[in-house]
Amino acid sequence: MSFFSEIILIGIPAYFANGAPPFLISLKKHPIDFGKKWRGKRLLGDGKTWEGLFFAVLVSTITGVVLKRIVQNNIHLWSFSLIGLGAMLGDMAGSFIKRRKGIKRGAKAGFLDMIDFMIGALILARIVTPYSWITFFTLIIITPIIHRTANIIGHKMGVKKEPW
Ligand code: CTP
Ligand code: MG
Repeated sequence: MSFFSEIILIGIPAYFANGAPPFLISLKKHPIDFGKKWRGKRLLGDGKTWEGLFFAVLVSTITGVVLKRIVQNNIHLWSFSLIGLGAMLGDMAGSFIKRRKGIKRGAKAGFLDMIDFMIGALILARIVTPYSWITFFTLIIITPIIHRTANIIGHKMGVKKEPW
């Protein structure tokens, strides 16, 4: 698999998976941690729901299937569901760390919020897709840069209140 197609076929489904759950605005959602606490703090918090998890896997799978038709590639179709699942597991690991540190649901955790999902996606994608190390590091490095750039643009457009 070429470097270019690896970046597209892993990166884009991971981004879409991470961006999908907030769209389930009016749905009644069920927390993955079932409201359970550990040492007085929520395990994951209300921001991580089963509905969000399933929706993210669905979105990354559909995104991947469409991209595979555009970017000629021998990537395994299972990769795309694994990327979505991995993104959500990484995101959950991020929330787990935030809760242990006493950071409230939705409060910023800088770098962690930006790359947790991509690390998870890359780890699970690896199960069926032997992508190169250059792809791994490129995605880890460009992910926070893309986050920052998108937020600055969103801020300039008046969609986002803060430029971060
Ligand atoms: N979301 C969800 N289920 C998930 C992940 C996200 O329902 N598995 C939805 C929630 O409504 C969440 C929103 O997407 O509030 C934004 O996701 P994220 O920023 O990851 O969560 P936070 O609310 O910021 O919570 P945390 O502090 O735990 O990161
Ligand atoms: Mg957040």
